[in-house]
Amino acid sequence: MKFETAAIHAGHEPDPAYGAVMPPIYQTSTFAFLGFDKPGEFDYTRSGNPTRKALEQCLAALEGGTDAFVFATGMAATATIMQHFSAGDHLIVHDDLYGGTYRLLTSVVAEKGIDIDFVNLRDIDAVAAAVQPSTKAIWIETPTNPLMNLVDLREIADFAKVRNIITICDNTFLSPYFQRPLELGIDIVMHSTTKYINGHSDVVGGALITGRADLAERIRFLQNATGSAQAPFECFLVLRGVKTLAVRMEYHNTNALKIAHYLEAHPKIAQVLHPGLESHPQHELAKSQATGFGGTFSFRIKGGQAEARTFLEALKLFVLAESLGGVESLIEQPFTMTHVSMPEDVRRSIGITEDLIRVSVGIEHADDLIADLEQALGQM
Ligand SMILES: Cc1ncc(COP(=O)(O)O)c(C=O)c1O
Repeated sequence: MKFETAAIHAGHEPDPAYGAVMPPIYQTSTFAFLGFDKPGEFDYTRSGNPTRKALEQCLAALEGGTDAFVFATGMAATATIMQHFSAGDHLIVHDDLYGGTYRLLTSVVAEKGIDIDFVNLRDIDAVAAAVQPSTKAIWIETPTNPLMNLVDLREIADFAKVRNIITICDNTFLSPYFQRPLELGIDIVMHSTTKYINGHSDVVGGALITGRADLAERIRFLQNATGSAQAPFECFLVLRGVKTLAVRMEYHNTNALKIAHYLEAHPKIAQVLHPGLESHPQHELAKSQATGFGGTFSFRIKGGQAEARTFLEALKLFVLAESLGGVESLIEQPFTMTHVSMPEDVRRSIGITEDLIRVSVGIEHADDLIADLEQALGQM
Protein backbone atom coordinates (compact mmCIF):
# COMPACT_ATOMS: atom_id res chain seq x y z
CA MET A 1 0.00 0.00 0.00
CA LYS A 2 1.12 3.52 -0.75
CA PHE A 3 1.35 5.91 2.21
CA GLU A 4 -1.98 7.69 1.54
CA THR A 5 -3.80 4.36 1.35
CA ALA A 6 -2.10 2.92 4.45
CA ALA A 7 -2.99 6.04 6.46
CA ILE A 8 -6.65 5.28 5.81
CA HIS A 9 -6.74 1.47 5.81
CA ALA A 10 -3.76 0.00 7.67
CA GLY A 11 -4.53 -1.61 11.01
CA HIS A 12 -8.24 -2.16 10.71
CA GLU A 13 -10.98 -3.73 8.64
CA PRO A 14 -14.69 -2.95 9.02
CA ASP A 15 -15.61 -4.05 12.54
CA PRO A 16 -16.60 -7.74 12.59
CA ALA A 17 -19.54 -7.14 14.99
CA TYR A 18 -21.66 -4.70 12.94
CA GLY A 19 -19.46 -3.65 10.02
CA ALA A 20 -18.63 -0.21 11.47
CA VAL A 21 -16.22 1.41 9.00
CA MET A 22 -14.38 3.26 11.77
CA PRO A 23 -13.04 1.07 14.59
CA PRO A 24 -15.39 1.47 17.56
CA ILE A 25 -14.12 3.05 20.77
CA TYR A 26 -13.77 0.00 23.00
CA GLN A 27 -14.37 2.01 26.15
CA THR A 28 -13.86 -0.82 28.59
CA SER A 29 -11.29 -1.52 31.25
CA THR A 30 -11.64 -5.28 31.05
CA PHE A 31 -12.73 -8.11 28.74
CA ALA A 32 -14.71 -11.27 29.56
CA PHE A 33 -12.72 -14.50 29.41
CA LEU A 34 -13.94 -17.00 26.84
CA GLY A 35 -14.00 -19.63 29.58
CA PHE A 36 -12.02 -20.73 32.63
CA ASP A 37 -8.30 -20.35 31.85
CA LYS A 38 -9.25 -19.03 28.39
CA PRO A 39 -8.58 -15.31 27.91
CA GLY A 40 -9.61 -13.81 24.58
CA GLU A 41 -7.23 -11.69 22.49
CA PHE A 42 -7.63 -8.88 25.06
CA ASP A 43 -7.98 -9.22 28.81
CA TYR A 44 -7.37 -5.76 30.31
CA THR A 45 -7.05 -2.36 28.61
CA ARG A 46 -3.72 -1.41 30.21
CA SER A 47 -2.23 -4.45 28.41
CA GLY A 48 -4.14 -4.08 25.15
CA ASN A 49 -7.33 -2.72 23.60
CA PRO A 50 -8.78 -3.13 20.08
CA THR A 51 -9.03 0.63 19.39
CA ARG A 52 -5.42 1.05 20.50
CA LYS A 53 -4.34 -1.92 18.41
CA ALA A 54 -5.89 -0.35 15.29
CA LEU A 55 -3.94 2.88 15.83
CA GLU A 56 -0.71 1.05 16.69
CA GLN A 57 -0.87 -1.11 13.57
CA CYS A 58 -1.56 1.94 11.40
CA LEU A 59 1.44 3.84 12.82
CA ALA A 60 3.72 0.81 12.42
CA ALA A 61 2.74 0.63 8.74
CA LEU A 62 3.28 4.37 8.17
CA GLU A 63 6.76 4.39 9.73
CA GLY A 64 7.79 1.15 8.01
CA GLY A 65 8.14 -0.68 11.35
CA THR A 66 6.75 -3.97 12.59
CA ASP A 67 5.38 -2.76 15.93
CA ALA A 68 4.08 0.52 17.33
CA PHE A 69 3.05 1.44 20.86
CA VAL A 70 1.00 4.49 21.76
CA PHE A 71 1.16 6.47 24.97
CA ALA A 72 -0.75 9.10 26.93
CA THR A 73 1.57 11.87 25.68
CA GLY A 74 4.82 12.26 23.76
CA MET A 75 6.63 12.65 27.07
CA ALA A 76 5.05 9.40 28.33
CA ALA A 77 6.50 7.64 25.27
CA THR A 78 9.95 9.07 26.03
CA ALA A 79 9.69 8.35 29.76
CA THR A 80 8.67 4.75 29.02
CA ILE A 81 11.62 3.98 26.74
CA MET A 82 13.93 5.60 29.29
CA GLN A 83 12.88 2.81 31.70
CA HIS A 84 14.89 0.48 29.47
CA PHE A 85 18.09 2.05 30.83
CA SER A 86 19.52 1.70 34.30
CA ALA A 87 22.07 3.31 36.62
CA GLY A 88 25.54 3.25 35.09
CA ASP A 89 24.27 3.31 31.50
CA HIS A 90 25.42 6.20 29.34
CA LEU A 91 23.27 8.04 26.79
CA ILE A 92 24.37 10.44 24.08
CA VAL A 93 21.68 13.03 23.44
CA HIS A 94 21.46 15.74 20.81
CA ASP A 95 22.44 19.05 22.42
CA ASP A 96 19.60 20.80 20.63
CA LEU A 97 16.17 19.38 21.41
CA TYR A 98 12.65 19.99 22.71
CA GLY A 99 12.73 21.62 26.18
CA GLY A 100 10.45 19.03 27.78
CA THR A 101 12.74 16.19 26.68
CA TYR A 102 15.71 18.11 28.08
CA ARG A 103 13.86 18.55 31.41
CA LEU A 104 12.93 14.85 31.63
CA LEU A 105 16.49 13.77 30.90
CA THR A 106 18.25 16.21 33.22
CA SER A 107 15.77 16.27 36.12
CA VAL A 108 14.37 12.72 36.14
CA VAL A 109 16.50 10.29 34.12
CA ALA A 110 19.90 11.64 35.22
CA GLU A 111 18.73 11.57 38.86
CA LYS A 112 18.50 7.77 38.59
CA GLY A 113 22.23 7.50 37.94
CA ILE A 114 22.03 7.31 34.15
CA ASP A 115 24.88 9.32 32.62
CA ILE A 116 23.85 11.73 29.88
CA ASP A 117 26.11 13.68 27.55
CA PHE A 118 24.55 16.37 25.39
CA VAL A 119 26.52 16.32 22.14
CA ASN A 120 26.32 18.10 18.79
CA LEU A 121 25.25 15.14 16.64
CA ARG A 122 26.10 17.07 13.48
CA ASP A 123 29.74 16.50 14.36
CA ILE A 124 30.46 12.76 14.10
CA ASP A 125 33.93 13.22 15.64
CA ALA A 126 32.30 14.73 18.72
CA VAL A 127 29.94 11.75 18.85
CA ALA A 128 32.88 9.32 18.56
CA ALA A 129 34.70 11.17 21.35
CA ALA A 130 31.65 10.91 23.61
CA VAL A 131 31.19 7.14 23.27
CA GLN A 132 32.01 5.09 26.37
CA PRO A 133 31.90 1.32 26.95
CA SER A 134 28.62 1.94 28.82
CA THR A 135 26.97 3.92 25.99
CA LYS A 136 23.59 2.32 25.36
CA ALA A 137 21.72 4.78 23.15
CA ILE A 138 21.86 7.89 21.00
CA TRP A 139 18.81 10.16 21.15
CA ILE A 140 18.22 12.22 18.04
CA GLU A 141 15.76 14.94 17.17
CA THR A 142 15.71 16.12 13.54
CA PRO A 143 14.81 18.76 12.53
CA THR A 144 15.33 20.17 15.99
CA ASN A 145 12.76 22.16 17.88
CA PRO A 146 13.04 25.17 17.48
CA LEU A 147 16.40 25.72 15.74
CA MET A 148 15.69 23.53 12.73
CA ASN A 149 19.10 21.86 12.72
CA LEU A 150 19.32 18.46 11.07
CA VAL A 151 21.12 15.29 12.04
CA ASP A 152 22.36 12.96 9.32
CA LEU A 153 20.27 9.90 10.18
CA ARG A 154 22.16 7.43 7.97
CA GLU A 155 25.51 8.55 9.39
CA ILE A 156 24.40 8.20 13.03
CA ALA A 157 22.61 4.89 12.38
CA ASP A 158 25.69 3.37 10.71
CA PHE A 159 27.96 4.69 13.45
CA ALA A 160 25.77 3.26 16.21
CA LYS A 161 24.99 -0.10 14.61
CA VAL A 162 28.60 -1.32 14.57
CA ARG A 163 28.98 -0.31 18.22
CA ASN A 164 25.73 -2.01 19.30
CA ILE A 165 24.23 1.31 20.42
CA ILE A 166 20.44 1.80 20.11
CA THR A 167 19.37 4.83 18.07
CA ILE A 168 16.11 6.63 18.88
CA CYS A 169 14.78 9.45 16.71
CA ASP A 170 12.09 11.96 17.64
CA ASN A 171 10.33 12.29 14.27
CA THR A 172 7.58 14.64 15.47
CA PHE A 173 8.42 17.59 13.19
CA LEU A 174 8.25 15.84 9.81
CA SER A 175 5.93 12.90 10.54
CA PRO A 176 6.36 9.63 8.61
CA TYR A 177 4.85 11.29 5.56
CA PHE A 178 8.10 13.19 4.98
CA GLN A 179 10.73 11.23 6.93
CA ARG A 180 11.01 7.54 7.84
CA PRO A 181 14.05 7.07 10.09
CA LEU A 182 13.62 3.28 10.42
CA GLU A 183 14.24 2.96 6.68
CA LEU A 184 17.53 4.86 7.18
CA GLY A 185 18.71 2.43 9.87
CA ILE A 186 17.38 4.01 13.08
CA ASP A 187 16.12 1.50 15.69
CA ILE A 188 13.21 3.34 17.32
CA VAL A 189 11.08 6.27 16.18
CA MET A 190 9.37 8.42 18.79
CA HIS A 191 6.46 10.80 18.14
CA SER A 192 4.45 13.34 19.95
CA THR A 193 1.24 12.34 18.12
CA THR A 194 -0.21 15.49 19.69
CA LYS A 195 1.32 17.26 16.69
CA TYR A 196 1.02 16.35 12.98
CA ILE A 197 -0.11 12.75 13.38
CA ASN A 198 -3.32 13.78 15.13
CA GLY A 199 -3.22 17.19 13.49
CA HIS A 200 -6.21 18.91 15.09
CA SER A 201 -4.88 20.24 18.43
CA ASP A 202 -7.48 18.27 20.36
CA VAL A 203 -5.50 15.32 21.76
CA VAL A 204 -2.21 14.70 23.53
CA GLY A 205 -0.47 11.44 22.67
CA GLY A 206 2.81 9.75 21.92
CA ALA A 207 4.20 6.75 20.06
CA LEU A 208 7.24 4.48 19.83
CA ILE A 209 7.72 2.46 16.65
CA THR A 210 10.37 -0.13 15.87
CA GLY A 211 11.26 -2.85 13.42
CA ARG A 212 13.39 -4.80 15.90
CA ALA A 213 11.68 -7.76 17.56
CA ASP A 214 13.83 -7.54 20.72
CA LEU A 215 13.01 -3.87 21.25
CA ALA A 216 9.32 -4.38 20.44
CA GLU A 217 9.10 -7.06 23.11
CA ARG A 218 10.79 -4.80 25.64
CA ILE A 219 8.58 -1.77 24.83
CA ARG A 220 5.43 -3.94 25.00
CA PHE A 221 6.51 -5.06 28.46
CA LEU A 222 7.33 -1.50 29.60
CA GLN A 223 4.06 -0.06 28.21
CA ASN A 224 2.09 -2.58 30.26
CA ALA A 225 4.32 -2.50 33.33
CA THR A 226 4.33 1.31 33.61
CA GLY A 227 0.69 1.78 32.55
CA SER A 228 1.58 4.64 30.22
CA ALA A 229 -0.55 3.62 27.22
CA GLN A 230 -3.04 5.91 25.52
CA ALA A 231 -6.73 5.52 26.43
CA PRO A 232 -9.22 4.16 23.84
CA PHE A 233 -11.07 7.44 23.16
CA GLU A 234 -7.81 9.30 22.45
CA CYS A 235 -6.63 6.43 20.24
CA PHE A 236 -9.85 6.76 18.24
CA LEU A 237 -9.27 10.50 17.75
CA VAL A 238 -5.64 10.04 16.67
CA LEU A 239 -6.71 7.30 14.25
CA ARG A 240 -9.28 9.68 12.78
CA GLY A 241 -6.66 12.42 12.49
CA VAL A 242 -3.95 10.30 10.90
CA LYS A 243 -6.18 9.37 7.95
CA THR A 244 -5.64 12.86 6.49
CA LEU A 245 -1.93 13.08 7.33
CA ALA A 246 -0.75 13.01 3.71
CA VAL A 247 -3.01 15.80 2.46
CA ARG A 248 -2.41 17.92 5.53
CA MET A 249 1.38 17.55 5.32
CA GLU A 250 1.42 18.56 1.64
CA TYR A 251 -0.53 21.71 2.44
CA HIS A 252 1.51 22.54 5.59
CA ASN A 253 4.69 22.13 3.55
CA THR A 254 3.55 24.39 0.70
CA ASN A 255 2.21 27.09 3.01
CA ALA A 256 5.31 27.06 5.23
CA LEU A 257 7.67 27.39 2.27
CA LYS A 258 5.67 30.32 0.85
CA ILE A 259 5.79 32.07 4.22
CA ALA A 260 9.49 31.30 4.69
CA HIS A 261 10.26 32.93 1.31
CA TYR A 262 8.08 35.92 2.21
CA LEU A 263 9.85 36.38 5.55
CA GLU A 264 13.32 35.93 4.06
CA ALA A 265 12.69 38.96 1.84
CA HIS A 266 11.26 41.14 4.63
CA PRO A 267 13.46 44.00 5.90
CA LYS A 268 12.45 43.46 9.54
CA ILE A 269 13.50 39.79 9.54
CA ALA A 270 17.11 38.96 10.38
CA GLN A 271 17.13 35.23 9.53
CA VAL A 272 14.79 32.41 8.53
CA LEU A 273 15.62 28.91 9.79
CA HIS A 274 13.83 26.60 7.34
CA PRO A 275 15.54 23.51 5.84
CA GLY A 276 13.68 24.02 2.57
CA LEU A 277 15.46 27.33 1.90
CA GLU A 278 18.72 27.29 -0.03
CA SER A 279 20.14 29.54 2.68
CA HIS A 280 19.78 26.70 5.23
CA PRO A 281 23.27 25.18 5.73
CA GLN A 282 21.83 21.64 5.65
CA HIS A 283 19.43 22.11 2.72
CA GLU A 284 21.06 19.26 0.74
CA LEU A 285 20.85 16.88 3.71
CA ALA A 286 17.20 17.85 4.17
CA LYS A 287 16.49 16.83 0.57
CA SER A 288 18.45 13.60 0.84
CA GLN A 289 16.82 12.16 3.97
CA ALA A 290 13.30 13.58 3.81
CA THR A 291 10.80 14.16 1.04
CA GLY A 292 9.50 17.47 2.43
CA PHE A 293 10.23 20.10 5.06
CA GLY A 294 7.06 20.13 7.15
CA GLY A 295 5.05 23.07 8.41
CA THR A 296 7.04 24.30 11.40
CA PHE A 297 10.07 26.58 11.28
CA SER A 298 11.64 29.51 13.08
CA PHE A 299 12.86 32.98 12.25
CA ARG A 300 14.67 35.84 13.94
CA ILE A 301 13.18 39.31 13.99
CA LYS A 302 15.42 42.37 14.00
CA GLY A 303 15.24 43.54 17.61
CA GLY A 304 14.71 41.99 21.02
CA GLN A 305 12.01 41.44 23.60
CA ALA A 306 10.10 44.70 22.96
CA GLU A 307 9.85 44.06 19.22
CA ALA A 308 8.91 40.41 19.77
CA ARG A 309 6.10 41.43 22.12
CA THR A 310 4.75 44.09 19.71
CA PHE A 311 4.85 41.68 16.78
CA LEU A 312 3.25 38.73 18.61
CA GLU A 313 0.53 40.89 20.17
CA ALA A 314 -0.34 42.45 16.82
CA LEU A 315 -1.08 39.15 15.06
CA LYS A 316 -4.77 38.43 14.55
CA LEU A 317 -4.90 35.09 12.71
CA PHE A 318 -1.84 33.34 14.16
CA VAL A 319 -2.69 32.17 17.66
CA LEU A 320 -0.07 32.80 20.35
CA ALA A 321 0.20 29.27 21.72
CA GLU A 322 2.59 26.44 22.38
CA SER A 323 2.41 23.21 20.36
CA LEU A 324 2.46 22.72 16.62
CA GLY A 325 1.15 20.50 13.86
CA GLY A 326 -2.52 21.45 13.97
CA VAL A 327 -4.62 22.70 11.06
CA GLU A 328 -4.59 26.21 12.54
CA SER A 329 -1.49 28.42 12.52
CA LEU A 330 0.24 28.89 15.87
CA ILE A 331 3.13 31.15 16.80
CA GLU A 332 5.31 31.38 19.90
CA GLN A 333 8.53 32.66 21.42
CA PRO A 334 10.56 29.57 22.50
CA PHE A 335 12.68 31.67 24.91
CA THR A 336 9.69 32.40 27.19
CA MET A 337 7.33 29.58 26.20
CA THR A 338 8.20 26.06 24.94
CA HIS A 339 11.85 26.09 25.99
CA VAL A 340 11.59 27.85 29.32
CA SER A 341 12.29 24.53 31.07
CA MET A 342 15.90 24.78 29.82
CA PRO A 343 18.23 26.89 32.00
CA GLU A 344 18.63 30.39 30.53
CA ASP A 345 22.38 30.00 29.94
CA VAL A 346 21.75 26.78 27.97
CA ARG A 347 19.00 28.47 25.93
CA ARG A 348 21.26 31.41 25.12
CA SER A 349 24.29 29.23 24.37
CA ILE A 350 22.41 27.30 21.67
CA GLY A 351 20.72 30.37 20.18
CA ILE A 352 17.28 30.35 21.81
CA THR A 353 17.10 34.07 22.43
CA GLU A 354 14.35 36.73 22.55
CA ASP A 355 14.44 37.44 18.82
CA LEU A 356 13.65 33.82 17.89
CA ILE A 357 10.05 33.13 16.87
CA ARG A 358 8.69 29.66 16.02
CA VAL A 359 5.72 29.28 13.75
CA SER A 360 3.54 26.26 13.05
CA VAL A 361 1.95 27.07 9.72
CA GLY A 362 -1.55 25.68 9.42
CA ILE A 363 -3.60 24.86 6.36
CA GLU A 364 -5.43 28.17 6.04
CA HIS A 365 -4.93 30.11 2.78
CA ALA A 366 -1.32 31.37 2.59
CA ASP A 367 -2.46 34.84 1.42
CA ASP A 368 -4.42 35.38 4.65
CA LEU A 369 -1.46 34.25 6.73
CA ILE A 370 0.98 36.51 4.88
CA ALA A 371 -1.40 39.48 5.20
CA ASP A 372 -1.52 38.92 8.98
CA LEU A 373 2.29 38.76 9.22
CA GLU A 374 2.60 41.86 7.04
CA GLN A 375 0.33 43.98 9.25
CA ALA A 376 2.00 42.74 12.46
CA LEU A 377 5.54 43.33 11.17
CA GLY A 378 4.39 46.80 10.11
CA GLN A 379 3.64 47.64 13.74
CA MET A 380 7.10 46.60 14.99
C1 LIG B 1 9.73 17.55 19.15
C2 LIG B 1 8.86 17.22 20.32
N1 LIG B 1 9.05 16.07 20.97
C3 LIG B 1 8.29 15.74 22.04
C4 LIG B 1 7.30 16.57 22.52
C5 LIG B 1 6.51 16.18 23.73
O1 LIG B 1 5.23 15.72 23.37
P1 LIG B 1 3.92 15.88 24.26
O2 LIG B 1 3.69 17.35 24.46
O3 LIG B 1 2.86 15.20 23.45
O4 LIG B 1 4.18 15.20 25.56
C6 LIG B 1 7.07 17.78 21.86
C7 LIG B 1 6.03 18.70 22.37
O5 LIG B 1 6.02 19.88 22.02
C8 LIG B 1 7.87 18.12 20.74
O6 LIG B 1 7.71 19.27 20.07
